[in-house]
Amino acid sequence: MIESLKIIDSFVLYGVLGDLSVRKLIPAWYYLERDSMLSDSLQILGVGRKEISDSELKNTLKKSLETYVPSEYLDQKIVSTLIDRFSYCSCDLQNPNSYQKLKLKVQDWNMPMAHYLAISPRLFESVCDGLSGAGLVTKECRIVVEKPIGYDLESSQEINEKLIKHFDESQIYRIDHYLGKETVQNLITLRFANSLFSSQWNSKGVEYVEITSAESVGIEDRWGYFDGMGQLRDMVQSHLLQLLCLIAMEPPNRLDDQSIRSEKVKVLEALKSLDEESIASSFVSGQYTDGEVDGVYKPGYVNEEGARPDSKTETFVSIKTEIQNWRWSGVPFYLRTGKRMETKTTQIVIHFKSDGHYIFNENKESLNGNTLIISLHPTESISLQVFTKPHGVDKHSIIRSDPMSLDFIKTQQLLNIPSGYQSLLMDILNGNQSLFLCREEVELAWKWCDETLDAFKNSNQELFYYKAGSNGPRESEALITNNGYQWYEE
Ligand code: BG6
Repeated sequence: MIESLKIIDSFVLYGVLGDLSVRKLIPAWYYLERDSMLSDSLQILGVGRKEISDSELKNTLKKSLETYVPSEYLDQKIVSTLIDRFSYCSCDLQNPNSYQKLKLKVQDWNMPMAHYLAISPRLFESVCDGLSGAGLVTKECRIVVEKPIGYDLESSQEINEKLIKHFDESQIYRIDHYLGKETVQNLITLRFANSLFSSQWNSKGVEYVEITSAESVGIEDRWGYFDGMGQLRDMVQSHLLQLLCLIAMEPPNRLDDQSIRSEKVKVLEALKSLDEESIASSFVSGQYTDGEVDGVYKPGYVNEEGARPDSKTETFVSIKTEIQNWRWSGVPFYLRTGKRMETKTTQIVIHFKSDGHYIFNENKESLNGNTLIISLHPTESISLQVFTKPHGVDKHSIIRSDPMSLDFIKTQQLLNIPSGYQSLLMDILNGNQSLFLCREEVELAWKWCDETLDAFKNSNQELFYYKAGSNGPRESEALITNNGYQWYEE
């Protein structure tokens, strides 16, 4: 096994002019610069197709920061310190000669380097071969790839094969930016540092679990890409299944990458596959039609720019699944995600079991159990709903539910919610892989998605429609209420 612990200060960003860089990565570098997290020696080479000069790149980066960093956080001194770290190399990544040009640009830089591929997976092979041909693959360099790693199990295996042809697993950083989010990382602390929860975190203590990632945005200019993917591949395959893994995994032996990844792999291995019969009661897929979000008219999915009017690609899914192991046997896990929904909400809700004998009303009817809400958006917070008695001499047997809340933005006086990329960029520089996916995780998640999509296709269940600005198709409500439960709403 190759040790990759050397701190890196030479970084190559492929696709520096692309959407991901402009919207997410450049702002993340900005916040790291603002927080004095970057070493003075860090240099970043941006690689793109366009023939532009270093100073044109710097202007583009400046504009991107002005667009994607709120003006109250933008400090021109920090902007200029950051963009001075950047230089540019225009490359046709499919042409092996380009890599000699790239090599000349970095020949005096410190080794090893990190190569971040914010580009289409179609180009991964050319880049790996090109870097290797130019002698830029060294034992300690790191290669970073973004989701989606493939389109299905077969294509993800092909990509992984291409990567391991040149790089050891310890050099490969597969990103799911959800794992960089502070509250997601906090899940590990919440679960394993609080004995209160650890004794209840199993089928004896938990009634059901919900994981929701709703977005109010539609597909807009990503239609071509998205239509070939759909919401299950785009959101569930990585983001939602990763959240599920962190909720459900056993305590890792240590907090290192190997221990955490191997526990996540075990969860994915135990995840129940849906078959044709279970689709009707466990899977709903939908597509948005036109409607209003926040009072503004939005076209339906098939009427977005560049859309194919007969597309049946899903923009919404809700799924009931189970983890078939000793800890979770019989506990339903509900996953729900959609585009153009009423509001952007990302949350995990753990519904604890209620006590059997309830003394607060005459019928001794049971009350719902406590609820733990872990919110990633719009706030980053953890809140436990507890029952209390309202103040008042005549209110002995009345109870109310109140939140015990930890709002990280307020308690830690954060200026803004980090996107997740800050933490991941630092881990790449420092050689910490614990928040990156290993090959097995990616492939098991694809296998489960392939099986689910096949079962759906063979079941002849229809695609349901929902209005833009709503909470998804009605059938998604039935998926959970049929079991006597409800989606948690604030
Ligand atoms: C990306 C998906 O991985 O995550 C997008 O491809 C989605 O479709 C985005 O919009 C959501 O990320 P976040 O951090 O805004 O919840």
